[in-house]
Amino acid sequence: MGVSLAEILIERSEELRREEGLNIRIVGIVDSSGAAVNDKGLDLEEMIRTKKKLGSVSCHNEYGRHGLNVLDLLDELDVDVLVDATPTNLKDGEPSFTYIKKALTYRIHVVTVNKGPLALALPALRELAKHKDVVFRFSGSVGGGLPVIEFARQCARGDKIVKVEGVLNGTTNYIISRMEDGLDFKTALTEAQEKGYAERDPSLDIMGFDTAAKLVILANEVVGRKVTINDISIKGIEDLEKEDIDEASRSGETYRLIGRVDGELEVKPTRIKREDPLAVRYSMNAVSFTTLNSGRHVILGRGAGGRETATAILRDLIEIKKKLVEVRI
Ligand SMILES: NC(=O)c1ccc[n+]([C@@H]2O[C@H](COP(=O)([O-])OP(=O)(O)OC[C@H]3O[C@@H](n4cnc5c(N)ncnc54)[C@H](OP(=O)(O)O)[C@@H]3O)[C@@H](O)[C@H]2O)c1
Repeated sequence: MGVSLAEILIERSEELRREEGLNIRIVGIVDSSGAAVNDKGLDLEEMIRTKKKLGSVSCHNEYGRHGLNVLDLLDELDVDVLVDATPTNLKDGEPSFTYIKKALTYRIHVVTVNKGPLALALPALRELAKHKDVVFRFSGSVGGGLPVIEFARQCARGDKIVKVEGVLNGTTNYIISRMEDGLDFKTALTEAQEKGYAERDPSLDIMGFDTAAKLVILANEVVGRKVTINDISIKGIEDLEKEDIDEASRSGETYRLIGRVDGELEVKPTRIKREDPLAVRYSMNAVSFTTLNSGRHVILGRGAGGRETATAILRDLIEIKKKLVEVRI
């Protein structure tokens, strides 16, 4: 349902109207049980209360609709933008993939933070958005609130990005950092799970698939490669031993799970100098863009979190608004 986004929209609505000319009316909210719909606009405080108290927005006494899904809603309502924050599925990208395709086909702008459909079919989705002349944005899909894609665009302006390297997964970075502190892999993983960094099934993180999904997005968006996750060579941290880290440490080096795009597309535990800017610790993310003429630029920060990711969605909505104004002018 996007509770963090709803909270931020409530807190900042006045400011967004005044400073960005952004007047957002939420006409439908969907969760896994159904939807709440009001074409005059839903009261977000009421929606958050309903979600927290009753478990689903579809339980709202006036606007709740059990069983209604995103596809039904797109047929029923006249909407400008679909915001997708459904759970990531790297097997077939569903349900997000079908939702996004339908919205773009209906010429509805789309903002998603879901890596699944992007990892599997970003070139095709971009093509569809272009064909339908709508905006398709996904800032929050890499780095949460960290403006990685925007930063890359700035680096590429008047220059050319020739290499991308990134620590793109907070869970694995936390595990490696704790192994540097002396824990073994299993204990570090359990700690990451207890702290809420790792998923209940952490295999997508550990085996490098989450990093690979984000690398696909960067490869398409900032290096102009038309690739999917199937084009990436992927090795996770499952075989990384504390002894490997201790041995690297004796030479002033360490390991990070790094996704890299240059001539190749690869995710693997990589030995780097401790003073390398990518040697960030714990749940931090860091991405470096090497350009043809202006050198290496690095962005780092917290790569996840509900409010951070909601801020990235808002950033995309502001961009959509700007593009629409440009088109009208
Ligand atoms: N949180 C972060 O730090 C972060 C950072 C970057 C990207 N992301 C991405 O953001 C997405 C959401 O993450 P999250 O942490 O907010 O996950 P979450 O807490 O599991 O929330 C997912 C939401 O999607 C709803 N949902 C599930 N199936 C649905 C369906 N078929 N149709 C409509 N809604 C459905 C869920 O409904 P119920 O409430 O009924 O279960 C829930 O409200 C994921 O793709 C994740 O990879 C998250």
